[in-house]
This record gives sequence, C-alpha cells and structure tokens, in this order.
Amino acid sequence: MANLETTYLGLKLKNPVIAASSELTGNVEDIKKLEAAGAGAVVLKSLFEEEIQMEMDQMKQQMTGRPYIYPETMDYMDEAFEEDQTRKYLRLIKEAKEAVDIPVIASINCVSAQKWTYLASEIEKAGADALELNMFILPTDFSRSSVDNEKIYHDVINQISSEVDIPISAKVSYYFSDLGPALRRLSETRVKGLVLFNRFYAPDIDTDEIKVTNGHVLSSASDIHLSLRWVAIMANRVECDIAATTGIHTGNDIVKQLLAGATTVQVASSLYRNGVNYMSELIAELSAWMDNKGFDSVDDFRGKLAQQKSTNPAAWERAQFMRNFSHFTRHK
Ligand SMILES: Cc1cc2nc3c(=O)[nH]c(=O)nc-3n(C[C@H](O)[C@H](O)[C@H](O)COP(=O)(O)O)c2cc1C
Repeated sequence: MANLETTYLGLKLKNPVIAASSELTGNVEDIKKLEAAGAGAVVLKSLFEEEIQMEMDQMKQQMTGRPYIYPETMDYMDEAFEEDQTRKYLRLIKEAKEAVDIPVIASINCVSAQKWTYLASEIEKAGADALELNMFILPTDFSRSSVDNEKIYHDVINQISSEVDIPISAKVSYYFSDLGPALRRLSETRVKGLVLFNRFYAPDIDTDEIKVTNGHVLSSASDIHLSLRWVAIMANRVECDIAATTGIHTGNDIVKQLLAGATTVQVASSLYRNGVNYMSELIAELSAWMDNKGFDSVDDFRGKLAQQKSTNPAAWERAQFMRNFSHFTRHK
C-alpha cells in the first residue's frame, strides 16, 4: 500500500488530508470520529476576534444602561467576557489533545493585530500543535490602499510569531490586487504554511422577496478551480507549505491538488454533506489512485503539474476562452 505520510508545518501527518476548520471540528466527539476515519490532522473551528469584540460591545451597552457603572467595572467586564470565550476555546484544545493523537491545529479568525494577540501564547500553552490565522480583510474601505490592507496581514503574523514557538499558517483569500507577489511576500514571513483559499459567507439575492439573503454555505465541485490554479502557480514559488482548500470533494480532487503542488488539503463541505466518516473514503480513493499509478509516496507525484514543472505552464495562466473553445456548440 502507498505511503501517504506528509510533513506539514513541520508536523508529521500520516496523510495529507486535513479536516478544515468548521463546526465539525468544534467538538471533541467529531474530532475523535475524524481521527478514527483517518484524518491526517484537524484544524479546530476558529475563535473569532470580531465575534468576541461584538459580544463585548453588546455587554458594554447593557452595562451602561444600568446606573452607577464605574469605568473600571467596564474594563473588568472586557477582560471577564473575553476570558469566558477564550476559556471555552482553550478547553476545546486541551480536550482534543487528550482525545486524539493526530496534530490539532488551533485557528483564530483575525482582522487586526490588536488586543487579542496575547491569546496565541495561551493557545500554545493549551497544547495546540500549530496555529492557523484565518485572516480576511475585504477591500471595501475606500480610504485604504492595497498596501495598507496587506500591512495588516504582516502586522498580525509578525505580532503572533513573536509570541509563540508553535508553527503558524495563514489562511487567506484571493482579494489581493497582486495576488501572486502578495502570497510570496506572506510566505517570506515566519509563517510555515499558506492555506489557499478560505471560503466565506457570501450574500445572495432572493428575487421573489427582493431582498438580500445568505448564499450557499457549502462549496460546490466547480469551486476547486480557483485554488487549483493558484496552488499550481505558487508551488515552488513560496517559501512555505501550501494547504489547498475549497471545493475538494473527492479523492480525485485531492490528487489534483497534490499534483498541482499542495502539501496538504483541507476539507469541510464534503464532510458536512456525507458525514465525518466520509474522510475514510477520501483517503482510500487517494491511496487507490497512487497504487494504480505506481506511486509509493506522495512526494513521488506532488507538484508534478505545478506551473514551474509543467510542460505546459501557459495552461495555468490561460484566462480567455479564445479560439481553443471555438468548436463549442450550443445546446438546443
Ligand atoms: C459551516 C462552515 C463553517 C466554517 N467555519 C470556519 C471557521 O470557523 N474558520 C475557518 O477558517 N474556516 C471555516 N470554514 C471554512 C472551511 O474551513 C473551508 O476552508 C471552506 O469551507 C472550504 O472548504 P470546502 O470547500 O471543503 O468546504 C467553514 C466552512 C463551513 C462550511
């Protein structure tokens, strides 16, 4: 049988298939099931900087509605509330570490390098094997340039890497004006891995009700192509590992991302759709493909079709349909 062992962020994984951060990795029971189904590692659900901040603000409002609140009390409330949120999260890390042997990667969703960053060392002390920084700065602030926005990513990474020794990865979006160079610059920081790309809540429109609604929460199969292209382009061009995520629904999708140059893959939607035990099917499919193709280890084929190694590098940059598709005929 093929050897699927993989090193990611300096951690030894028995295979490159990781359960991505989601509610499924927010409880120990499912984490145990994921390990039993063969997951190489788990990324815990994120602790949200914004959420903590929002709840703290709400609590402050409630408090200010009452008479005789001293400013010091408000300061205390800030700390007490934040501790409550974080204590639950630290407990999750500890319990997950006690329950499973696979690497447990903690995750923080962050939008600034302020206040919360002390948490990183608490997360390290709780036993997390690594920390994934789930960062998303939507470039909608018209007073901020792309340089300003990118600086936030670097500030967060610099701040966190000065607080912990565990490896750090950055899970990012594709909202950069110079995506390739920006990803490379991020890889030159102290991150050990880039996770390409996060999937976010996306608004939609209900045309009957004529109102804004929630978009699809789970990814669809065609969502793989964005990350596949960029994994292939960035492989061998970054100074760190690459974890591919979004739209990876089958073992065959995993093979594609590894051929493109991913170190590991992270899956969520397919586990929501098919149950956490589906993890074992994904891994079996990857293993069967390797056996079938005669690859003994993942390193034997990883990055074989990365842009820099490919015999057809232009294929990864083709953007226009042009004449290649002129033979396409219309369906009736
Ligand atoms: C219900 C749900 C909750 C998620 N929660 C988080 C989260 O807390 N932190 C995070 O970094 N990503 C979160 N994600 C994103 C996933 O980790 C993953 O990167 C994304 O869904 C793309 O992978 P997929 O196509 O396999 O779903 C969530 C995804 C889903 C579907």
